[in-house]
Amino acid sequence: TERILFDNDTGIDDALALVYLLSLPQVELVAVASTPGNVSADQVARNNLALLQLCGRTGVPVAVGAAAPLEIPLVTTPETHGPQGIGYAELPPPSGQTARAGAVDLWIDAVRRNPGELTALVTAPLTNFALALRKEPRLPELLKRVVVMGGAFYYQGNTTPTAEWNTHVDPHAAAEVFAAFEGLPEERLPIVCALETTERIELRPGHVARLAREAGCAEPELVLPEDPPGKRSTASVPLIRVLSDALRFYFEFHRHYDQGYLAHVHDVFAAAVAAGTADYRTRSATVHVETGPGLLAGTTVPDFRGLWGRKPNARIVSWNDPPAVFDEVLGSIGALARR
Ligand code: BDR
Ligand code: CA
Repeated sequence: TERILFDNDTGIDDALALVYLLSLPQVELVAVASTPGNVSADQVARNNLALLQLCGRTGVPVAVGAAAPLEIPLVTTPETHGPQGIGYAELPPPSGQTARAGAVDLWIDAVRRNPGELTALVTAPLTNFALALRKEPRLPELLKRVVVMGGAFYYQGNTTPTAEWNTHVDPHAAAEVFAAFEGLPEERLPIVCALETTERIELRPGHVARLAREAGCAEPELVLPEDPPGKRSTASVPLIRVLSDALRFYFEFHRHYDQGYLAHVHDVFAAAVAAGTADYRTRSATVHVETGPGLLAGTTVPDFRGLWGRKPNARIVSWNDPPAVFDEVLGSIGALARR
């Protein structure tokens, strides 16, 4: 069993990652912490609650995190993920469970109660994690494993020419987190899934159709490039309808930026790494995060060769297997939707 503490900023790809984790019998989702990023932390928590409800898993605690990044104002991204962070999807209104305050304390309590047992998965700016580290500096030793989506090590950013979104939103938090791991044994270093591997997880309309088929929906194609923007899914299974409507928005966003009718589902890959279902290779490096204002804010620089004379603080994923990720993820979510 993988016991996972998930910190996210749901977020369309975060949503797919969350549903994927819920679909895995071998994963125990211990708690979900909500970080401001794609949308405000309150909205992230509402999205997480609604998705848990949709998947019949209202018992998982959800907490709201910091209101803003450590030192700079929050910038959200409604153009990428929609005003509510979930594209065109209409989530069920929350019933019963509410989000608690204090995601930072939730992190610390969960880790202290389960020393050496939890995998922390962060697919958002590292704000909550950095704040938790300030209060409990032993977190790197107390966690079993850390998996992070963030950074761009081949200098093709998705937010600025060199910076990735999560590190750009809160570069100070990212710098603090990497610093906390410097010099620890290799197996303790965060596994970092950055753009050069997560942008290879290219979801296409055919994948959504396959998901619908796996879930036993009658509709063969649900998200097609020739459809008018904003068209809603008529899939008979509610979970497929929600994912399809969310992903349509994400496809339209990527097309707008001339990337084609596809969507990079970064966080899904990180979730598969955390769950132990993805094949990948890593290279250890000392990561520097540029915190200053200006053109390079949020840029992540890796020293693979020890040229700075410092110890590694991260294991950067250098290879992954996108077709295998899709086989695994679509099959597993499809089975969940069929249940
Ligand atoms: C990251 O930015 C967010 O918008 C996505 O959810 C993902 O975590 C990719 O740069
Ligand atoms: Ca995210």
